[in-house]
Amino acid sequence: MALTDSDCPRLPSETAITIPLISIGEELPQIMLDLRSAGVYTWKTLVMIYDTTVSRDMITRIIKSITQRRTSSAKASGISLMKLESNISRIDLKTVLSTIDPKIVGSNYLVIASYYIVGILMEYAKSLQIAGINNQWMYIISDTNRHFQDIHVFENLLKEGDNVAFLYNSSFTTSVCAGGRKCHIKELLESFTRSIDQAITEEFNTASQVSEEEWEAIRPTKSERRDFLLKNMKIHLSKNGVCDNCTYWKISTGETWGVEYQAVGEKSSPKLHPVGVWRPSDGIEMTDVLFLHVSHGFRGKALPMVTFHNPPWQILTFNETGDITEYKGLILDIITELSKNLNFTFRLTAVDKSNTINSTTSPFDIDSELTTKVPNTLLDQLKNKTVALAACAVTVTEDLKSVVNFTKPIAILSYTFLVARPKELSRALLFISPFNFDTWLGLCAAIISMGPLLYFIHRSSPVYEYKGIPMKGGLASIQNCIWYMYGALLQQGGMHLPYADSARILVGAWWLVVLVMATTYCGNLVAFLTFPKIDIPITDLEQLIAHKDTVSWTFKEGGFLEKELKVSNEYRFKTILNGKSKHTSTDFKAVINSIREGKHAYIDWKIKLQFIMKEQFLKTSRCDFVLGLEEFFDEKLALMISPESPYLPKINDEIKKLHQVGLIEKWLKDYLPKKDRCWKNRHLIEVSNHTVNLDDMQGSFFVLLMGFVSALLLLLFEKLWYVKINKQPKKMIQPFVT
Ligand SMILES: *[C@@H]1O[C@H](CO)[C@@H](O)[C@H](O)[C@H]1NC(C)=O
Ligand SMILES: *[C@@H]1O[C@H](CO)[C@@H](O)[C@H](O)[C@H]1NC(C)=O
Ligand SMILES: *[C@@H]1O[C@H](CO)[C@@H](O)[C@H](O)[C@H]1NC(C)=O
Ligand SMILES: *[C@@H]1O[C@H](CO)[C@@H](O)[C@H](O)[C@H]1NC(C)=O
Ligand SMILES: *[C@@H]1O[C@H](CO)[C@@H](O)[C@H](O)[C@H]1NC(C)=O
Ligand SMILES: *[C@@H]1O[C@H](CO)[C@@H](O)[C@H](O)[C@H]1NC(C)=O
Ligand SMILES: *[C@@H]1O[C@H](CO)[C@@H](O)[C@H](O)[C@H]1NC(C)=O
Ligand SMILES: *[C@@H]1O[C@H](CO)[C@@H](O)[C@H](O)[C@H]1NC(C)=O
Repeated sequence: MALTDSDCPRLPSETAITIPLISIGEELPQIMLDLRSAGVYTWKTLVMIYDTTVSRDMITRIIKSITQRRTSSAKASGISLMKLESNISRIDLKTVLSTIDPKIVGSNYLVIASYYIVGILMEYAKSLQIAGINNQWMYIISDTNRHFQDIHVFENLLKEGDNVAFLYNSSFTTSVCAGGRKCHIKELLESFTRSIDQAITEEFNTASQVSEEEWEAIRPTKSERRDFLLKNMKIHLSKNGVCDNCTYWKISTGETWGVEYQAVGEKSSPKLHPVGVWRPSDGIEMTDVLFLHVSHGFRGKALPMVTFHNPPWQILTFNETGDITEYKGLILDIITELSKNLNFTFRLTAVDKSNTINSTTSPFDIDSELTTKVPNTLLDQLKNKTVALAACAVTVTEDLKSVVNFTKPIAILSYTFLVARPKELSRALLFISPFNFDTWLGLCAAIISMGPLLYFIHRSSPVYEYKGIPMKGGLASIQNCIWYMYGALLQQGGMHLPYADSARILVGAWWLVVLVMATTYCGNLVAFLTFPKIDIPITDLEQLIAHKDTVSWTFKEGGFLEKELKVSNEYRFKTILNGKSKHTSTDFKAVINSIREGKHAYIDWKIKLQFIMKEQFLKTSRCDFVLGLEEFFDEKLALMISPESPYLPKINDEIKKLHQVGLIEKWLKDYLPKKDRCWKNRHLIEVSNHTVNLDDMQGSFFVLLMGFVSALLLLLFEKLWYVKINKQPKKMIQPFVT
């Protein structure tokens, strides 16, 4: 039990009773100290604004109790001081307040002022935007008392989103008010003796019912006894204590968050909520936290929200009467998470039920237009604050920005185009592909010219004449030479070899050429067999424009894309806008088919195109489509909030956090089509594992067929020729008959 001077920290309340001896009218430093050591406020910095109702001496003591580091749990504070003169005018007050820069001095304010100044201060703080969702204001009103404490006047000045607490004097002075050291000592000792008495009676009662050994085992320990005494003393003091009980302060906090959206039909206004009391003997007794919303967000309030069906952002299911029975989708996932973090619940209503009531929940229904077509009723409801938030993804546009406020973007979507997957080219002419046309031409020229050259060198050589070798057959005829060179090219050799060195050198050189040619050809052919030959794909807008003679394109009219294209100055975007195919079928199936045939390209959100690809893949189990690699125009989707809503920064912070931990990305992924084999890189198909098949070999079979046919034709020709030759001599040697 301790009786201390004023401004001393109390001993831990679970082990001791501390009663500071306070002279009436000087209780403020002790209250601040008690608040701080009880951890009711945990400010690190604060701005203290005070007027002349407190003396200089008192201010010094208050500052001391706020700043002095006495117990380890209480944090030290940085304080900025502002003094208001006694007869300050309203204009001067505003000027003084406007010098506050919340970035420098922090966002916590402690005001010690008279009843009349507080109202004016609240008004100006609001208009200077230093009182809001991120600021905490505590007003200490000392010139009130039990009979003059109409604190509810300030309720009218409370605004949505404020964090304001009032600590006010509720003391009274009558002749029955006792106080001072003697009174407290008497009261303390009385309560102590009563508690001891109670303890002894109880212990005797218990001990008399059990044996001595048992009592030894179950009797209370010293600390148990202390706790019992302390508890009873406190109960007694709070019930019967009269010393200094005329000094009495109350704490009330404004319950402001979300009240504007309560009670459909009539607007309810913020209320003051009592959260604690202070008495010298008990110290601070809190029934709730000091700043309700800082610790508990919206305190479980139900906020009305409006939405409409638009997968994958909002996916709603309705029952026959048109009430929402089930909801999911990216936006509603985010709202659910927000409601957990900010401690609110929500009531969803749907606008525009007519077109959504029959909506299927097929994931392929995604429509890139709906985010730009916001129903007017929804905007009206946001503007007249019947709803707190529009729980729908909306494209951020300048037009809408002037009417409502947007949160940070939820998703950023880019546009690209869908074209037919480049076809694999026919492999019939595979055997020609190792060399290009020039090489083949050079090769042919070489074969044809080398024959006569060999013939010429062979004939001109005098070796045969000198050695007496007959020059007949073999290389002595020009077409034999050509055949020989051809045979050598295919590494088949020939029956004859020139005898002369000159011709042999030529043949040797030819063999060398043949060696290089053949090796190169073989190597290249293997490579061509392994890698399939793919058509050149359309990957960006330039290529699409370059193909405009064969490929037409479309996009949805009147959407974000068209607007962006119209305002863009870039040549390619202008071309895309002007070159849009005029006569497109409204039947989407026909559009898909013409894309598949490679005659058409469709421009839309990348995710929408992915849905189309997935749908077609599920239908045909072929990958007929591919997306353009270029992505253009970022479309930002965000939530809409009513203008002037104080909660925008708070919601933005939460959304930022969700982005940072990757939750939004993960949720979006869950609603998008899963990866399948059509997502594979377009260039690497079957590379590692290709068995040579008939397709690859068909070319060589064609050559064989052609050889066979030409041989057959030649045979026919030879036959005919032979018949003709045979007939002529018969005629010539006809016997002459006279
Ligand atoms: C609180 O009110 C009582 C009664 O009016 C008064 O005596 C006391 O000085 C007041 N306290 C302060 C700090 O002004
Ligand atoms: C102070 O004590 C007296 C006597 O017990 C009691 O009548 C009075 O209501 C108490 N005042 C307060 C503010 O508790
Ligand atoms: C939400 O608000 C209720 C009502 O004030 C409160 O009891 C609860 O602790 C709060 N929850 C959180 C997580 O702050
Ligand atoms: C539709 O749901 C609402 C709200 O849950 C309910 O009041 C109503 O009875 C339901 N209607 C039908 C036809 O089930
Ligand atoms: C909804 O679907 C039902 C049957 O499928 C049809 O009779 C009704 O007209 C549709 N309603 C709307 C608003 O499209
Ligand atoms: C707000 O606007 C909606 C839609 O126009 C209307 O139905 C509602 O009655 C309005 N509420 C108020 C309080 O003006
Ligand atoms: C909210 O919208 C209003 C116009 O409706 C605009 O003046 C204001 O700057 C916006 N606030 C924010 C934080 O964007
Ligand atoms: C190659 O393809 C065949 C059939 O397409 C398959 O059975 C085999 O496992 C594949 N081998 C490798 C190494 O991928």
